[in-house]
Amino acid sequence: MKKFWENPANAIIAPQGAQVPDSLQIGNVCIAPATILAPMAGVTDTVFRRFIRNASFVRSAQDVMEVPEDAGQVSLTSRMQEQTSVCMERGPSAVFKNKDEISGCGLLMTEFTSADGLFRTRESKRKRYLTFYEDEHPISAQLFGSDPYTLAESAKIVEDAGFDLVDLNLGCPAKRVVKCNGGSGLLKDLPVIGTIFEAVRSAVKIPFTVKFRLGWDDENIVCVPLAKMAEDCGLNGVALHARTREQGYSGNARWEWIAAVKDAVKIPVVGNGDIRTPEDAIAMVAATGCDGVMIGRTAASNPWIFRQIRQHAETGRYDQPNEADRYQMIRTYFKMLVDETMHGSPGKMKQFVAWFTHGIPGGNALRRACYDAHTGPAILDSVERFFEELLSGHVPPQSTPVAEAELDLLPACD
Ligand SMILES: Cc1cc2nc3c(=O)[nH]c(=O)nc-3n(C[C@H](O)[C@H](O)[C@H](O)COP(=O)(O)O)c2cc1C
Repeated sequence: MKKFWENPANAIIAPQGAQVPDSLQIGNVCIAPATILAPMAGVTDTVFRRFIRNASFVRSAQDVMEVPEDAGQVSLTSRMQEQTSVCMERGPSAVFKNKDEISGCGLLMTEFTSADGLFRTRESKRKRYLTFYEDEHPISAQLFGSDPYTLAESAKIVEDAGFDLVDLNLGCPAKRVVKCNGGSGLLKDLPVIGTIFEAVRSAVKIPFTVKFRLGWDDENIVCVPLAKMAEDCGLNGVALHARTREQGYSGNARWEWIAAVKDAVKIPVVGNGDIRTPEDAIAMVAATGCDGVMIGRTAASNPWIFRQIRQHAETGRYDQPNEADRYQMIRTYFKMLVDETMHGSPGKMKQFVAWFTHGIPGGNALRRACYDAHTGPAILDSVERFFEELLSGHVPPQSTPVAEAELDLLPACD
């Protein structure tokens, strides 16, 4: 069955003139453009984050030359230079290697990390949780937990590790997290959230933000008072995934609540939920007035999304990847995984194949081959054989479908 966004009748038309903002200032960190890779447990590790950053770069003069100058639009080069200087003026945290190399993804976020786990782990072992590379700046580390002291101490660890921001997770619907009052479990207890906000705020100097859902269920929607409390406690920004905990991932994200939060506070508000195309991103900004957009699942099925949003902002159009682009993309990511971990995280590779190959002719054959392979290099090999055949004009025959359940596609957390 088609998902609703695969039906062209439901395609969102971007309102004329609206655009995703060029930049967003959170505390002393300049996020340019105002697009954020959402935290995703089991997905947004350092390899995936760097992969997305690189997939998003507008790199060379070549790229600039390809931009049509019709319709009197400002050239990509001059817009990029403008943005570079905006960031340079606003703060030292924005890292650009040179004027022609700017990423379409303004901020990376880690997977959620247990504050308890971090606090209890010996210093020498913490790297496991907090590994990131220089080219990931600006980067935010997300924590979950329910104890104000532990969260504050963990936030200090995050700050000392060199992260640019620290974020608190108040959205995770997973039972094992909620059971200990973490994630969305806290949405039932605003006073405890207030205590956590104060404890973490006074523990660190780096910008402190919170990502939350609307509330526990429709009878208990708390996003507006929660955002106000965040502002009162000195948090530097909020991000709202516009669903309740009870909703899980069902139905549509209710963007009207992002607008309500934006109306209620002066600190930056980032909108999240159901952005699948540049048009969606623009529509969210137009409908809610949010200061930036955060993208999760689409980044895994279409890693070019940030680049496309940027391209759309600059030129009013954007490129669609062809099969050869897809091949390069998946091979690059899998090689990075194999290089990083020796065995190449087979589980992660299978999950990514499932997301990434929807809509590719014969994609089911690739999903089946990857599912049956046992090591990272074997999966990479299947990918190479599949695409070589596809690109030489042979559509691989259909094979037994891999059920989504087999690939464990459900998010571990939120
Ligand atoms: C596999 C997966 C893992 C996730 N893990 C986290 C997480 O660790 N922390 C968090 O705040 N949200 C997490 N989320 C939720 C996303 O950050 C995001 O809020 C949600 O997917 C809605 O945005 P989207 O429609 O752009 O995907 C996760 C989502 C997915 C699909």
